Amino acid sequence: MVRETIRFWRQGQAIEVSGFHPRTTLLDYLRLQERRVGTKEGCAEGDCGACTVALGRVRGGRVHYEPVNACILLLGQIDGAELVTVEDLAAGGELHPVQSAMVEAHGSQCGFCTPGIVMSLFTLYHDGGRPLSRESVNDALAGNLCRCTGYRPIVDAALHVCGGQPDDAFATHAEQNVQGVEALADGQDIFIGDESRFFAAPASEDSLAVLYAQHPDATLVAGCTDVGLWITKGMAEIEKIIWLGRVTGLDRIEETSDMVGIGATVTHAEAHPSLARIDPDLGELMRRFGSWQVRASGTVGGNIANGSPIGDLAPALIALGSELELRHGDATRTMALENFFIAYRKQDRVPGEFVRRVTVPKLKGNEVFRAYKISKRFDEDISAAMGAFRFTLDGRRIAEARVAFGGMAATPKRAPETERALVGLSLDEPSTWGEAMAAIARDYQPLDDHRSSAAYRATVARNLVFKALSEAASGETRATRIIGQRDALQAAE
Ligand SMILES: Cc1cc2nc3c(=O)[nH]c(=O)nc-3n(C[C@H](O)[C@H](O)[C@H](O)COP(=O)(O)OP(=O)(O)OC[C@H]3O[C@@H](n4cnc5c(N)ncnc54)[C@H](O)[C@@H]3O)c2cc1C
Ligand code: FES
Ligand code: FES
Repeated sequence: MVRETIRFWRQGQAIEVSGFHPRTTLLDYLRLQERRVGTKEGCAEGDCGACTVALGRVRGGRVHYEPVNACILLLGQIDGAELVTVEDLAAGGELHPVQSAMVEAHGSQCGFCTPGIVMSLFTLYHDGGRPLSRESVNDALAGNLCRCTGYRPIVDAALHVCGGQPDDAFATHAEQNVQGVEALADGQDIFIGDESRFFAAPASEDSLAVLYAQHPDATLVAGCTDVGLWITKGMAEIEKIIWLGRVTGLDRIEETSDMVGIGATVTHAEAHPSLARIDPDLGELMRRFGSWQVRASGTVGGNIANGSPIGDLAPALIALGSELELRHGDATRTMALENFFIAYRKQDRVPGEFVRRVTVPKLKGNEVFRAYKISKRFDEDISAAMGAFRFTLDGRRIAEARVAFGGMAATPKRAPETERALVGLSLDEPSTWGEAMAAIARDYQPLDDHRSSAAYRATVARNLVFKALSEAASGETRATRIIGQRDALQAAE
């Protein structure tokens, strides 16, 4: 059975939409078709948060709300979800509690950013009665840019109103909303359009494999946080879109005592806890990945398949020795993750083949892992360089090393010369570490671009080798880090 519409839950009703252009963004739908213009367009590239809306999906028997950037989300991607926009918050002539808190704290001046900020606070308000700190509110608001009010009153408003049990119209109608959203899940494939232009959303891996084999020229979309920019900024005329968000099974995380298997459509927000359990540095990397909005939409599979030389996950997962699984038609194959990246934006993936999942080995007792994201800002910034290290120790000596960097070559790449130079080093003899630091220069010809010069990247990579060794030697991060200190993170767990 194929459905020719998308269906979502909005203001207590199921809405059905059809006949839209596959590239239609949610923001354009809201502003140009629904004519609800409370949701603003600022940057149109996922950075400012002015377009933030909430999507609700049922997990553990309740609707779980997450913020998303409507500017880089396709309309088709809201199938099966509850959509909440800023117009939906005030009820019965009363402002929503987060709106009242913003008024009381003087959290708005020109007001352009305010709808987006209110929607991020709405999702925080519903995030489930957990204690909030100024830092966690800052994290939640990292994807919302305010140019004139300043963040202090906005964070005050959040601290005042969020963190308790929600008490608004959405909490009152929680059961009705759960039933409404659950009733949307029919397990049918979606196909809207014709053979030359369509938005499709297969419900199973088999349907996906057949459809993609028939249309290998179609663009796969998972979270759309990369593809969205091709549309809004690159003006790419993508005519055939296959959205992976409804494919059963690709959203699964499997965990055993020695590995974590992450399905291609698992979002960064969903993968965060499992990765953080492997190592606190992976948790910190995920905390700093884009913004809450980007982590709620963007996927692990999309980050890998995109093949960006500055993507954050690939170097970390390569250093851990991860494997990638791909599927084409009925055939699946597995490869070491580093072998997937062939050349600049060229991956080992044949037409019609898709990424299925990545398997990440957990650390053994004698293994030490470190990952460092180097960017101009701590939050909501793409890396200039990203270095990851896994040392296997034999006592205080390095018996084996895996080192991978992003931002240092046309692809995420291992550092074989550095790895060789690290083997045999004693963690107690820093005077012998120089050769391993120097070897980085033979492994990479760094990128030279607006994010940083090649010379800066080369120096930073060399210094990161020293930093990883000295942290492995002492177990301390107080002297080597401004944020993301491992001892503080571990204490918080
Ligand atoms: C504001 C902002 C901040 C960002 N910050 C970061 C950051 O800090 N670190 C970072 O690394 N990235 C960052 N990104 C980039 C982006 O969010 C990530 O790369 C994200 O993981 C992409 O996942 P996605 O699901 O949105 O991919 P999509 O945009 O849906 O797809 C990306 C590419 O992968 C392909 N694809 C997707 N899934 C599959 C699959 N299963 N099989 C085969 N091909 C597939 C698509 O066809 C497309 O070519 C940021 C982006 C934005 C807009
Ligand atoms: S308009 Fe800036 S994030 Fe969408
Ligand atoms: S109130 Fe003007 S940008 Fe935030």
